[in-house]
Amino acid sequence: MTVISGRLVRFLLSTCLGLISLSRPNEAYSVVSDGTLKSLPRPDQDFDIHTGGILAPILQPRVPGTPGSTAVLNHFADFFRHSLPDWQIEFQNSTSKTPVTGDREVPFVNFIATRDPPWVASGNVGRLTLAAHYDSKYKPEGFIGAIDSAVPCAVIMHAMRSIDDALTKKWAAMDKAGHTQGSLDEHTGIQVMFLDGEEAFNEWTATDSLYGSRSLAQEWGARVNPSMSTFKTPLSSIMLFMLLDLLGSKDPKIQSYFKTTHWAYQSMATIEKRLRELKLFKSSPNYPVTENRRSDSKAAEEPRWLIDATREIKSHYRHSGIADDHLPFLERGVEVLHIIDSSPITGFPTVWHTLHDDGDHLDMNTVEDWGVLITAFAAEWMELENFIDTADVKRTPSVPLPRSEKVAEWKNNPDTRKTEL
Ligand SMILES: *[C@@H]1O[C@H](CO)[C@@H](O)[C@H](O)[C@H]1NC(C)=O
Ligand SMILES: [Zn+2]
Repeated sequence: MTVISGRLVRFLLSTCLGLISLSRPNEAYSVVSDGTLKSLPRPDQDFDIHTGGILAPILQPRVPGTPGSTAVLNHFADFFRHSLPDWQIEFQNSTSKTPVTGDREVPFVNFIATRDPPWVASGNVGRLTLAAHYDSKYKPEGFIGAIDSAVPCAVIMHAMRSIDDALTKKWAAMDKAGHTQGSLDEHTGIQVMFLDGEEAFNEWTATDSLYGSRSLAQEWGARVNPSMSTFKTPLSSIMLFMLLDLLGSKDPKIQSYFKTTHWAYQSMATIEKRLRELKLFKSSPNYPVTENRRSDSKAAEEPRWLIDATREIKSHYRHSGIADDHLPFLERGVEVLHIIDSSPITGFPTVWHTLHDDGDHLDMNTVEDWGVLITAFAAEWMELENFIDTADVKRTPSVPLPRSEKVAEWKNNPDTRKTEL
């Protein structure tokens, strides 16, 4: 199944056919071009574990209800308010007793940021939702949780910042052209969830875990959108719940768990393969590190992170046995793509739930590559080809048009949509 037909089928199944006219469903769709992949912003200094503007502030203990948790929450809010001011920020709060805090009600605060096409009522928007948990484990004391899940949060922040400008340009162009009703693309928004209280305080049970996601899924499943909305609840507006967890160790192994989202998994796998072929993956053994790499040296075998790319997923649901924040959503019928490093042979990364899961044990090339891969996936899902500035990698000597003229050119000449600007 191709990306577009997969996406369409999922959309048709998850919404009521007929409420939205799908007269031109394929029109705007394109996979991102090589030029776009080459020009995606890289996180660079922002992922520095000591001084990086995005990652470093998350690398501290952030147990729910503690000052560290508040500090990280403020970091998220500051980032969106300053760098992504067009996003709507929301907190979803709850409290719960835990096995280690006696009668005290511990507060859990989920951070949600959403950006929709400016002309659409929120009940009519289907969204790509990128989620990760931001809390860290109560014990062992001093636990940082760099892969679990500081890095996934940072990767999502980087990816959203990297596509934000293109979203603005695309929606402005669509608005101007009058493309504001009718097609699927005109009703697609994007959302970030940083979830609290994923970790168990004592030992994982149904009640000592997933505090934030259980509360959020329950509340959003019950919150009904205005009548006549396309989607009944904010939960049913989630077209794909993409959960990132345990990312940042070297050589991750990502399995595909759900038949109904395997097409999305495969489209990410295709992007991974293309990034590797374009030598844009710093963690690759074939990444050109030095100028004087011997030209006769044999290429090493190129690994794949998304190991199930060519596998056929036969059963509807593979029993991974992995409990994570997707479960409260999955139980309510939300489509899930679970991007978690879990090898079929060796399981989770070796630092998992140990004091070694800190900044110093991250593989920074891998972390950076995750930033690029998730950015590319989001750009492709949001159909941002032609709106991400590729001027700096343009190989032709012509002077690049200013961005606004490129958009105008694109609008006026449908043929250019299929080509790289
Ligand atoms: C939820 O908690 C956050 C952080 O403490 C706070 O800023 C926000 O006002 C709360 N929201 C609601 C609706 O209570
Ligand atoms: Zn964990």
